[in-house]
Amino acid sequence: MSVIRVDPFHPQPEAITRAADLLRQGGLVAFPTETVYGLGANALDTIAVERIFTVKGRPSYNPLIVHIADAEGARQLVQTWPEHAERLAAAFWPGPLTVVLPKRPEIPGLITAGLPTVAVRVPAHPVALALLRAVALPIAAPSANRFTEVSPTTAQHVEKALGNQVDLILDGGPTTVGIESTVVDLSGMRPVLLRPGLLSPDDLAPIIGELEVPARQPVEQAPRPSPGMLERHYAPRGVLRIFQPEHRENAAFLAQQAIESQRTVGALLLSPLNAPIQHPIVMPNEPAAYARLLYAALHSLDDLGCELILVEQVPSSPAWIGVHDRLERAAR
Ligand code: TXA
Ligand code: MG
Repeated sequence: MSVIRVDPFHPQPEAITRAADLLRQGGLVAFPTETVYGLGANALDTIAVERIFTVKGRPSYNPLIVHIADAEGARQLVQTWPEHAERLAAAFWPGPLTVVLPKRPEIPGLITAGLPTVAVRVPAHPVALALLRAVALPIAAPSANRFTEVSPTTAQHVEKALGNQVDLILDGGPTTVGIESTVVDLSGMRPVLLRPGLLSPDDLAPIIGELEVPARQPVEQAPRPSPGMLERHYAPRGVLRIFQPEHRENAAFLAQQAIESQRTVGALLLSPLNAPIQHPIVMPNEPAAYARLLYAALHSLDDLGCELILVEQVPSSPAWIGVHDRLERAAR
């Protein structure tokens, strides 16, 4: 495995060529997108895609997002390209939005977990776009982490989680959005929000009207329209507990007790908490800034050996829906 540093704005052509060659040969290449790092493979090469599932420890019922360089590339992968897709693509691509549409037969069932639909996205990162243009193939890329663990927002996170199991990591520095793309299902009568992200229902509604926002599903419930909706996901190793802002004293008491019993405690807070927590992190009070730092904060608390992570609940207004969702899923 090798790691190549690339300029995030003007990636070096040699690095891109090397990564594209590896992808064509069936290799696995981790690369930055604006959301999180992806673990890429040629979507049309079932052996390479099989490796993604193995390396991630990902169950085969969890379908992958296919990345392409532009909307035209997306149209080649789907059966229909409805008005809603055209409008969303025009408004948000390249960007942190994934749309789900009926797939063409040539998309392997392995990618879509046997579903008749495929998820497609044009990422807004110069490194990802340069790579997609150079390789000129659809690239399947889930987040480059092990199944259920915290997604990577730096090349170091990828190295820590997947190390020697990938052929190449393109290191383009930290990602800017910080949480995974918003996933919208356009294959039915009405658009459905399958996974919230930085683009909230309020951002999408002016373009395509009201979306259906289904409730999260408990893990054991089938069928699974989007395993991103699985209850526990994006989770650190330590136990993560969410507390309401009005219960700060209780949180301080919990921390005190844990520390007295020799446990290492971390926290994600919206303002300083009066408690002897070993690793408190005061997060920004704005959803985009919070999202950008969230996974790096969880990775660092994991690295510091935190056994308990106390997280102050964020607002439940639409702009916070993506962050809110990731915290709820990381909690237990
Ligand atoms: O921001 C992102 O989307 C990142 C970067 C690398 O692009 N990728 C990512 O991929 O988060 P992954 O595999 O970790 O999450 C894919 C999500 C899952 O929630 C999956 O269930 C959903 O997309 N998905 C994929 N194909 C689907 C389909 N055909 N129908 C419904 N949901 C689908
Ligand atoms: Mg993921």
